[in-house]
Amino acid sequence: MINKMGSHIRVPPVKCQGIKTKLARFIMDSINWSDNGRWIEPFVGSGVVVLNVAPRRALLTDVNIHVIRFYNDIANGQLSPSSVRNYLEKHGSILSQIGEPYYYEVRERFNLKPTSFDFLFLNRCCFNGVIRFNSKGHFNVPFGKKPDRFRPGYITKIVNQVAYLAYLVNENDWIFKEADWRETLKQVHEEDFVYADPPYIGRHTDYYNKWVEMDAVELFESLKFLPCGFALSTWSRNRYRNNPYLPSDASVIVKTFNHFYHVGPTESLRNPMIEALIIKRGSETTEGKDNSYVTQGELPI
Ligand SMILES: C[S@@+](CC[C@H](N)C(=O)[O-])C[C@H]1O[C@@H](n2cnc3c(N)ncnc32)[C@H](O)[C@@H]1O
Repeated sequence: MINKMGSHIRVPPVKCQGIKTKLARFIMDSINWSDNGRWIEPFVGSGVVVLNVAPRRALLTDVNIHVIRFYNDIANGQLSPSSVRNYLEKHGSILSQIGEPYYYEVRERFNLKPTSFDFLFLNRCCFNGVIRFNSKGHFNVPFGKKPDRFRPGYITKIVNQVAYLAYLVNENDWIFKEADWRETLKQVHEEDFVYADPPYIGRHTDYYNKWVEMDAVELFESLKFLPCGFALSTWSRNRYRNNPYLPSDASVIVKTFNHFYHVGPTESLRNPMIEALIIKRGSETTEGKDNSYVTQGELPI
């Protein structure tokens, strides 16, 4: 069990496909790690896991330059609680006056010259709160159809998320870097711990989330030979089939987490998804088993 931050799960200011907010507790309860080395995430995404683990030292990488720029701008102070509040008040107000065309103006501006402020804006008012990029690397999610999105309470919520993240980034020694996972794993030492959360094969494919069977096999083989502990997130089973790519090996154990998605008003529309955490033997706890969580709404992003 590695959670130092109490029972409340913290949420990051930006979201991404495959975000592990609902699984963060299970992941933390399942892993045994000393916090002597670095917490390493080669697929950091929204950062929700590291935000809750809150390690003293971390190496956090991703191929998505926009999430890495966002975290680096928090670290260098460009994105602060006050600058984020000013920006969101100004641009949220323009959005409420002009509506949809302003969303597309910001999206176009972002695709020509990306900034962390516009990234945050798009992320928080686009359709379904997902980030998706087309084959040219352009953000292509449509408007979420809520011109009044940035109400005072919503802005304060985002500002508080930025403030908490800024506090952790300043208090600790965390490095954010744009990198392919292979580069990141070359830098691992014995006392580190690697949490790997690659894209799920065939799901959410976009510019930054291309992932095929060969990638999954190569990643698992690399993880197995690391000098430190690791945990790898994937899925185990859904209503229709078992994950044919679920790695198995005597050197790891698998913990599962039952996740239900309500896709309609009745019980019969509960869709089970069993998530899996593959943990190097010796790095697991006896907790974090047979958890269940119910999510209202569509399949997870
Ligand atoms: C499932 S998401 C990670 C979600 C994250 N754990 C969270 O909770 O928000 C997978 C991430 O892998 C990144 N990614 C995809 N291919 C990669 C690669 N070859 N090297 C590094 N990162 C990659 C994507 O940009 C994406 O952010």
